[in-house]
Amino acid sequence: TKAITAEDIRARKGQDPIVSLTAYTTPMAGLMDDTCDFVLVGDSVGMVLHGLPSTLGVTMEMMVLHGQAVARGLKRALMVIDMPFGSYEEGPAQAFGNAARLMRETGAGAVKLEGGVEMAETIRFLVKRGIPVMAHIGLTPQSINTLGGYKVQGRDEQAETVIADAHAVAEAGAFAVVLEKVPQVLADQITAEIAIPTIGIGASAGCDGQVLVLDDMLGMFAAFKPKFVKRYADLGPMAEAAIKEYATEVRSRSFPAAEHVFADAAPGAKKD
Ligand code: KIV
Ligand code: NA
Repeated sequence: TKAITAEDIRARKGQDPIVSLTAYTTPMAGLMDDTCDFVLVGDSVGMVLHGLPSTLGVTMEMMVLHGQAVARGLKRALMVIDMPFGSYEEGPAQAFGNAARLMRETGAGAVKLEGGVEMAETIRFLVKRGIPVMAHIGLTPQSINTLGGYKVQGRDEQAETVIADAHAVAEAGAFAVVLEKVPQVLADQITAEIAIPTIGIGASAGCDGQVLVLDDMLGMFAAFKPKFVKRYADLGPMAEAAIKEYATEVRSRSFPAAEHVFADAAPGAKKD
């Protein structure tokens, strides 16, 4: 099978829904390669795997390391990698240098960056120079300090701002746009109005595709469940129970059992 490209994703506008998840490691990327159309190496890695309080502390070096790990697990799905906070906002030249580094050092097929109207010039600059860009509007977590919290974006008179952002990134040449935490009707309107696929997270089933943070949908975090996350598994509690059972068996000396230990082989006997 041929690897999926950013242009393939763009061509899915109005077709069957585009499926994507985040990944940060080789084994998880491998598990989703056959099923997902694109895999996002999200800067959510900082919160999900490194315990950071927000995505603002994520560095280029972290993105390169996780991007390389994810790439080793993928053969088919498109790999999209997030540009971290501070790596692109100064202007097109800074953005190009860092986007080129992410693609060169990880093999990603596209980058994603946050912002609408204010990032249109940068998106156009990158796309014209060979870098496919996925935009990300609505709730943009790297702007948490100016947005004042992880709240729904684009309600009431704010809707016009998000609509303008969607048109700006589409016209600038983005091949798709993530709509995060916006009202369903607004997501549906944007999906109908713009020529590129919308990828919803906390948006609408009417979007051209969906993305979720892998560890959230696997139920890794018992204490964290935003309304827009559906848990398709409960791995966190399962892992905790396994750890407790292991501890109990170690303390009672029932682990390791006979099948886990090695006999003192007789001379000439076959060793395992
Ligand atoms: O970093 C991330 O995981 C993301 C998705 C939530 C879209 O940007
Ligand atoms: Na992100």
